[in-house]
Amino acid sequence: MSQEKLYEGKAKILYATKDPDILLTVYKDDATAFNAQKKGQIAGKGVINCQITAALYKWLESEGIATHYIDSPEPNQMRVKAVTIVPVEVVVRNIAAGSLCRQTGLSEGKILDNPLVEYYYKNDELGDPLLTRDRIFILDLVSAQRLTEIENIARKINQHLLSFFDKCNIILVDFKIEFGIDSQQNLLLADEISPDTCRLWDKNETDAQARVMDKDRFRKDLGQVESAYQQVQARVLAQLEK
Ligand code: TMP
Ligand code: ASP
Repeated sequence: MSQEKLYEGKAKILYATKDPDILLTVYKDDATAFNAQKKGQIAGKGVINCQITAALYKWLESEGIATHYIDSPEPNQMRVKAVTIVPVEVVVRNIAAGSLCRQTGLSEGKILDNPLVEYYYKNDELGDPLLTRDRIFILDLVSAQRLTEIENIARKINQHLLSFFDKCNIILVDFKIEFGIDSQQNLLLADEISPDTCRLWDKNETDAQARVMDKDRFRKDLGQVESAYQQVQARVLAQLEK
């Protein structure tokens, strides 16, 4: 690729294009967990996550959510609007799982009365620690007004995704999103929404391991990672074609 590489992350590479307002994201098959202490590959993941993200972002745009997505020139590539990423990872939880259970003792699978919105510092050196609102302001990561905007949009995205995945016979347990600010100061949904960044449980399965359709299969060595990702892609695309 002739373009200048701007940044290589754990799952994607970002390239400049001739247009300073447009960047090219190339999705990789590389998979990491536990802040890259565990490393591996998930065959076909780059294409699958790119195509799921493209399809969901196009659909979210049609529902009034502004995203950085432009188009997908190759199956594992996405052209996106250039943004400055807000260094706050926004996690929305509908059901207790993962770090929420580890840190609070809540039982996995407990349905939360209200979706929980949490913020984590996007900082690999520090291990992406949980933030409070006041810590966000002390660190000057984002303004109070923007944070309110982010929370409102995150809750809206959750409502859209909950009902969408439900139609796919998938339970949206939790997910992580990131936001960016473009040159006109618009707040845009950025990064990706995929089985790497969501917990997705198969509604047709009750077994706690068999139902897992996301990166927890890789994190916990549950096997059949590729087929789970393929199944999510197939259901998402089929639902959007209806
Ligand atoms: P957690 O329970 O480990 O905090 O994860 C919450 C959600 O965020 C889950 O859907 C997985 C996603 N996630 C990421 O996308 N990137 C990360 O680095 C981590 C830790 C979680
Ligand atoms: N994305 C994180 C990592 O690379 C953690 C995770 O998804 O579990 O290591």
